Amino acid sequence: MSSPAPVDSSGVAELREFLAECDLTTSGLDAPGTRYWISRDERGRVVGSTGFELSPTTCDALIRSVAVASDARAAGLGTELALFAITAARDAGAQRAWLFSRRSGPFWQRLGFERVPTESLAEALAESPQVALFRATGQLARGVAWARTLS
Ligand SMILES: CC(C)(COP(=O)(O)OP(=O)(O)OC[C@H]1O[C@@H](n2cnc3c(N)ncnc32)[C@H](O)[C@@H]1OP(=O)(O)O)[C@@H](O)C(=O)NCCC(=O)NCCS
Repeated sequence: MSSPAPVDSSGVAELREFLAECDLTTSGLDAPGTRYWISRDERGRVVGSTGFELSPTTCDALIRSVAVASDARAAGLGTELALFAITAARDAGAQRAWLFSRRSGPFWQRLGFERVPTESLAEALAESPQVALFRATGQLARGVAWARTLS
């Protein structure tokens, strides 16, 4: 397994395809303030992704696109990729990490996240492409939000 490698503009299509396979949001992946990484197996196949969007103040980070290929799950890669994004967001200046997750709440709770109102996330990350999309499509009301401090 390779270490997570940064996704540049030429890699966004590949990331989008992987996220679609994992049933995650694919919009705004190339928006300003976004950073993504992918992991590959020995044959070069994408097996994981991770990333975040940073608020303009850099105080808040929206962790996004943490995903593992279905046949590579339950072996610790998801935790590794989540911690990678959390560390990178902290290094970029973020003091708080936020995310949406309807299906994987217990996974995030293990990493110190607590459930918060979606409106708190939307206020902290008002300019995030994912928040804008969720507002426009009505998904914000149905979303499940999580947050933790980064200290
Ligand atoms: C969530 C996801 C990234 C976890 O990846 P993974 O490689 O299986 O995670 P890990 O192997 O590091 O799992 C760590 C622990 O969390 C648990 N866990 C993993 N996914 C879970 C989930 N969806 N719900 C509850 N617990 C979960 C595992 O059982 C494991 O517990 P254990 O150590 O007691 O066995 C993966 O299931 C996935 O890609 N899901 C689809 C995309 C998604 O929902 N992403 C999160 C939103 S950004």
